[in-house]
Amino acid sequence: MVVDSREIPAKMEEFLTPWEQRHWGALTVDKRRHDWLAGRWAAKRALQPLLATPSGVPPLSAIAIINAPDGAPQVADHPGISLTISHAGTRAAAATARADCPIGIDIEVIAPRTPAFVGDYFTPDEQQQVHLAPGYVRDTLVNAIWSAKESALKALRVGLRVDTRAVSCRFDPFASLPKTWTPLAVELDAARLGRGLPALSGWWRTMRGYVLTLMLGRECESSQRPLGTPDLSANTPSGLPELCPPK
Ligand SMILES: CC(C)(COP(=O)(O)OP(=O)(O)OC[C@H]1O[C@@H](n2cnc3c(N)ncnc32)[C@H](O)[C@@H]1OP(=O)(O)O)[C@@H](O)C(=O)NCCC(=O)NCCS
Repeated sequence: MVVDSREIPAKMEEFLTPWEQRHWGALTVDKRRHDWLAGRWAAKRALQPLLATPSGVPPLSAIAIINAPDGAPQVADHPGISLTISHAGTRAAAATARADCPIGIDIEVIAPRTPAFVGDYFTPDEQQQVHLAPGYVRDTLVNAIWSAKESALKALRVGLRVDTRAVSCRFDPFASLPKTWTPLAVELDAARLGRGLPALSGWWRTMRGYVLTLMLGRECESSQRPLGTPDLSANTPSGLPELCPPK
């Protein structure tokens, strides 16, 4: 689910629980207030159809999202569901899977990054991909690599606490920006991450000035389609809806 923050209802009580309304009200930094709200809006919209019962779908304001101590989002009272959230610019993205399935999503604005950024955070192989990319796709590739790292580190639930070179991503060369989910390869460095790791499958696409990536436990991909995500095993075109037009 990808949303534009300009579509968020003005009345918070329409989609936030009382606790969430108080939490949002206590946030002091404007950007954080904006991002947090957009992430909740995306996540609740993604979750609502999954939580339907024979009597209907629950109101968004009855779906409670909390953060675990490590920062990962969780759906209160629904331990069977994994949730992942990202925000960038005016957009937010969320995806869900079975609880035993590692999942991470990330969205980034396609904007220039410095050579120092690439030198500091990318593996030698990633730096080489950037070096070889034609100039007109370089910003997209740099942001896609960065996004894929963040998605993987979210799926592993470690975030940026670890060296970003512990994740190395490889993109097939592209001449035009993919507008449907496209596979990417991801390798995890067990020595840098310091533990046994699930193999991940990576996917990416662009969407009107943004790049999106999704990482999913490879075993989940082959066993059962994760809840609410695109049918990745069939590599179908995007299961994510197009952005709603801003109101
Ligand atoms: C996870 C992380 C990489 C996200 O990076 P980001 O580009 O700033 O933000 P994004 O919009 O893409 O994603 C933010 C969302 O990631 C999720 N998230 C945070 N920590 C996470 C973790 N350990 N595992 C999985 N998901 C996590 C949250 O849902 C968060 O949104 P929310 O707080 O509004 O619920 C980054 O927040 C991180 O490294 N966190 C762990 C380290 C930490 O806690 N640092 C505190 C600040 S110093």
